[in-house]
Amino acid sequence: MIIHQKPTFPKNFVWGFATAAPQIEGAGREDGKSESVWDRYARQPGTIHNNDNLDVACQHYHLYKEDIALMRSLGAKNYRLSIAWPRILPGGDGAVNQKGVDFYHRLFDTMMENGITPWVTMYHWDMPQVLEDRFGGWRDRRVVDAFANYAQTIVKAYGDRVKNWITLNEISCFTYYAYGTGVKAPGLKLPEGIVNQTYHHALLSHGEAVRAVREYGGPGARVGLTDNALVGVPVTETAEDIAAAHAYFIEANCRTFEPIYRGHYHPDYLQSAGANAPRFEADDFKLISQPTDFLGMNLYSGLFVRAAQNGAKYEILDFPPSYPQADNTWQKIMPQVLYWGPRLAVEICGAPAIYITENGCGYNDAPPVNGEVHDLHRRDLVRNYLGELHRAIRDGVPVEGYFLWSFMDNFEWDEGYARRFGAVYCDYQTFKRTPKLSARWYSKVMAGNCLL
Ligand code: NOJ
Repeated sequence: MIIHQKPTFPKNFVWGFATAAPQIEGAGREDGKSESVWDRYARQPGTIHNNDNLDVACQHYHLYKEDIALMRSLGAKNYRLSIAWPRILPGGDGAVNQKGVDFYHRLFDTMMENGITPWVTMYHWDMPQVLEDRFGGWRDRRVVDAFANYAQTIVKAYGDRVKNWITLNEISCFTYYAYGTGVKAPGLKLPEGIVNQTYHHALLSHGEAVRAVREYGGPGARVGLTDNALVGVPVTETAEDIAAAHAYFIEANCRTFEPIYRGHYHPDYLQSAGANAPRFEADDFKLISQPTDFLGMNLYSGLFVRAAQNGAKYEILDFPPSYPQADNTWQKIMPQVLYWGPRLAVEICGAPAIYITENGCGYNDAPPVNGEVHDLHRRDLVRNYLGELHRAIRDGVPVEGYFLWSFMDNFEWDEGYARRFGAVYCDYQTFKRTPKLSARWYSKVMAGNCLL
């Protein structure tokens, strides 16, 4: 007899959706919000696909009640969102904007009424432009004090209802890609030494955010970073290729994980950076390496690695042209990153618990037909990724939750609104939301706590 055994997730496993303020809220200039670096960057013609901008986005600022009700109807009990710094402190620091503060009070209250637990990212790339203008944003150490003040402000304001805090989202995307390659706001191409310094200031700001949660978060508050670690998947799961995956993970992620988990920069990093190494002060690493409660991982894709023949620690394989990928150009489909990412982070860094704070895929989904969007491609992709996550848990990796990116289609940074990551379709003319097939499927997965 054949018995269908559904892969079941641990009791109390956290299931939810994820979004970020700048990508969904809109209301770019309403109720006292100031311009963010992304607002400014998007207004420069040619930077964003189709010259899209963030002014209106999904109108979530005005439609949040409907959005939370829809989330509830899909059975989500957790929602990862971010707070917009320029809404809370339009001047970067200084006076608090009460209307901005009140918006998130209303949002959290609505979530509570609907039985949805908030997971709040303090910073999802929307630095107030005024700080970029005043001292160069992440380039100047003054940003650390400004961020500390912002973190304390929001933890004090919302700490009674928010118990899960994420300090920063994907450091490399607002440092290296923002000041180095220039593909993200503020879109600058500056020398390596400056970029390394932005990274150091981000690490310090993470430390300040951890401190804010410890001091003002109240009982039960937890905090962690969300990182987009680079993950090498062993081509063959042999001891040699697994060792190669280890070596790659250590090297590729040392700029984040060595300071945070070991309290210093990796000597190899300092040596290779040479004169471009970041300047730091003696006590910096005490702040940076304070213990956290979990590591958030945003995992979409990776690389294949294997043992090298030439004495190197690993060899990276090129993707052949036929290798499957999503419509977003950077996402090779690699479900195994949800196995290897958490496993390597735990084995190498000793992260106490892992949450997948983002996973999903970008496709050019067609509009609904008869109220339906048959995104079988997304359903299948997520299902395969979750299978690998389940394997990690079965092997003893402490993965405690999963957030699907994204709740609804939204502003996908330089790819604008064309690239859709949502489980819910957003019509940008009418702002009508239509749950896609993947949302209906995911709803059942969350309800059953198992892969269906
Ligand atoms: C990472 C980012 O955190 C999020 O803002 C983005 O939309 C998704 N990945 C997809 O690219």
